[in-house]
Amino acid sequence: MAESLSHLRCLECGATFDTKKLRYECRCGGLLDLEHDLEALRHAYGNLADRFDQRRGDWWGQPTASGVWRYHELVLPELPVDQAVTLGEGNTGLYEGGELGERLGLPLLYLKHEGENPTLSFKDRGMTAGVSWGRYLGASLGVCASTGDTSAAVAAYTARAPGMRGVVLLPAGKVTDAQLAQAMVYGARTLALDTDFDGCMKVVQELARSPEVYLLNSKNPFRIEGQKTIGLEAIHQLSWQAPDWFVLPVGNAGNMAALGKGLREALALGLIDRMPRVAGAQVEAANPFFQSYEQHFAERVQMVAQPTVASAIRIGNPVSYPRARRVVEETNGTVVSVSEGETLDAQALLGRCGVQACPNSGVALAGLTRLVQQGVIKPSDRVVVILTAHGAKFSTTSLRYHRGEIEGVAGEWANPPQPLPARTEEVARALGISTPR
Ligand code: F0G
Repeated sequence: MAESLSHLRCLECGATFDTKKLRYECRCGGLLDLEHDLEALRHAYGNLADRFDQRRGDWWGQPTASGVWRYHELVLPELPVDQAVTLGEGNTGLYEGGELGERLGLPLLYLKHEGENPTLSFKDRGMTAGVSWGRYLGASLGVCASTGDTSAAVAAYTARAPGMRGVVLLPAGKVTDAQLAQAMVYGARTLALDTDFDGCMKVVQELARSPEVYLLNSKNPFRIEGQKTIGLEAIHQLSWQAPDWFVLPVGNAGNMAALGKGLREALALGLIDRMPRVAGAQVEAANPFFQSYEQHFAERVQMVAQPTVASAIRIGNPVSYPRARRVVEETNGTVVSVSEGETLDAQALLGRCGVQACPNSGVALAGLTRLVQQGVIKPSDRVVVILTAHGAKFSTTSLRYHRGEIEGVAGEWANPPQPLPARTEEVARALGISTPR
């Protein structure tokens, strides 16, 4: 494959670098993005939409059956696709909003459920790309800081990559038991650091200066390439019709950066004919990106993120801030901030619609609700909400919500279990039905 199909470009000064030499930032300190030569891709592969369509029939076991590697030419065109380290990620459901859409007055609402990935979060998309590229270049130690989902994905994909080991740095006591168990189950070296996520991120960025370390946070531009397929797959599922809006939760801001990059490329390649707008949602306890947005990005706000039920986005200094800011500006997007109660009620409402998603996804739905109330999102708009992880990773929070144990939250949708004696007539009475004879 021609090497010139992609190169790394600094977001700040525009310097370019070869993709084959590992680096995560420019000499000037700016973030790097992988830039594809879209003209060369078009020339080399012709109509990409047809190519991607044909792969929809690919069978399990072929790398291109993955919802990431189906878009191989737009992800890592320089990686031979048979070298991909894949668990068949992607291919997640795009559910019609149904009753939820009716409730919100949005008949064209869709829910993209990234909790249906192999480790139950959207992180698998970026990780298959990041780990595949690292292994291709001979990296042996895949390392990340995490609020619990990136670490699960690092652990799983390094376990699948011959010659690689995973090391995860977690803020002690600040990830869920289910997430912690994932890192342990997949055999990653699991380090619990006495700090918060931002503290772990600082350590991991310093560690990444060591040549032995391959950084697997979304600072790594190759991860962004895999992650952008959430948007590509969603527009593919909508038969290449661009929605008016994507709404997603924002923590370290890699996902928003990736979504925007994928959409930008899809527009440039003619896969879609207009740019969707992108709305980011944060929770009040950890909303530095929202605060920056409120000041028209005059200042890059940092904060000490406070405890929140949306623990995966408890981040005070998002690493991908410059990339995500560009997405908001380019797409005429927006950023909202929601409360703990709004988050939990929105998450619970998703469950009532048959979709078990995490509290972080609840932040996105609560953000959408606000934007509809504010009239920013209109009833006629086609909207895709990205649900980032499965609720099963955060079941303790759901149990506490439904049992009414979360202070200050009334729990509009609380559905606690009811203890009953094991007698048919008692059960029938509780259900309001006649006693069976
Ligand atoms: N939703 C979930 C479930 C997450 O795990 C994350 C990030 C986000 C949303 C926010 O995405 O960081 O790209 O803006 N989790 C990272 C982790 C930080 O370590 O698992 P983002």
